[in-house]
Amino acid sequence: EHSMHDDMAKILITAGQIQERVRALGAQITADYRPLGDLLLVGVLKGCAMFMVDLARAIDMPLAMDFIATSSYGKTTESSGVVRMLKDLDTDIAGRHVVIVEDIIDSGLTLAYLRGHLLRRNPASLRICALLNKPSRRRADIPIDYLGFDIPNEFVVGYGLDFDEKYRNLPYIGVLHERIYHSTA
Ligand code: PRP
Ligand code: MN
Ligand code: MG
Repeated sequence: EHSMHDDMAKILITAGQIQERVRALGAQITADYRPLGDLLLVGVLKGCAMFMVDLARAIDMPLAMDFIATSSYGKTTESSGVVRMLKDLDTDIAGRHVVIVEDIIDSGLTLAYLRGHLLRRNPASLRICALLNKPSRRRADIPIDYLGFDIPNEFVVGYGLDFDEKYRNLPYIGVLHERIYHSTA
């Protein structure tokens, strides 16, 4: 009954800025993995959705894609610290060159859990690619190999990121107006 854009306090990263950064990350990953002749992108659902498909199309080499689904509990704006595995990989990653694709690293607890989970299966290599990083909120130390943007500690949505499962379809990264999360949380 209203436009999703009306619920934003401001636009933090425009669609154009995202596309420019994604193209650069794709070129960097292409340069690093082409010589190895293997690349498996592992997207972390659901937040990775938009980034994953755009990044994959910005990489110029034959690659494979798989998905894992995790969720932290609740619909608050804070990560709970409890990570649930909702869907595991279909692929055997032993001996494969794997890049985990995430929309955002906040506390780092999701990736700390996933790194451990994937490393136990003996990939040839494992790197992390994240569109957004909120360094001020870090609780687990995560090496980020490919990063789009560092962002301040504001509640962001769009381009895959949700609040209460909504706003993932915004083409930009926006800051949600506080009246929205104050009324539902
Ligand atoms: C969000 C986001 C990351 C994670 C980051 O996912 O997409 O996966 O939280 O938080 P952390 O660094 O504090 O662990 P969420 O659990 O909300 O699931 P979703 O991707 O389906 O929205
Ligand atoms: Mn997620
Ligand atoms: Mg979420």
